[in-house]
Amino acid sequence: MKSIVLIGFMGSGKTSVGARLSELTGARFVDTDELIVKNEKKNINDIFANVGEEGFRRIETTTLSGLAGLSGNGLVISTGGGIVTRPCNIPLLKKAGRVVFLRVTAKTVVRRLAGDTSRPLLRGDDPQKKVHDLMEKRKDMYEAAADITIDCDELTVDEIANKVLQNCKE
Ligand code: S3P
Repeated sequence: MKSIVLIGFMGSGKTSVGARLSELTGARFVDTDELIVKNEKKNINDIFANVGEEGFRRIETTTLSGLAGLSGNGLVISTGGGIVTRPCNIPLLKKAGRVVFLRVTAKTVVRRLAGDTSRPLLRGDDPQKKVHDLMEKRKDMYEAAADITIDCDELTVDEIANKVLQNCKE
């Protein structure tokens, strides 16, 4: 199996869908944020506080680059929502595997992430506006990076995972 790479906004379900895909296929599941937290021995908020978003992006690219080198290994990879914002990551995503965009609306993200404090970019005043603004900036980037796009607002994790598999067989 060619590796499957999940991209999409925060709260789009990449981690849950990735874990389900791993169960269904037996493929190893890797989450770039989890890998970063493990390697840096700090949570994402602390990494942002210490080295800023730019520093986090550099670490993210290095992590993705390592995974792109394992593309033959049939992994399921879920990525951080901002991975598409660095142009140099796009060829790395493509090299890493079949890129699947889990598309959700801002409304869904706001509902799912209400009260969440683990995402530094949504902390502070008016997280709703932050979601809308970031989504507006990024939506074309996700589309451009994706081989496959799945609209996920109305689907369960299982339904999304099955759609991914159907599309990845074709
Ligand atoms: C980010 C998304 C987060 C994490 C970091 C930055 C973003 O991952 O990488 O907080 O810029 O959208 P999730 O998409 O898994 O929440």
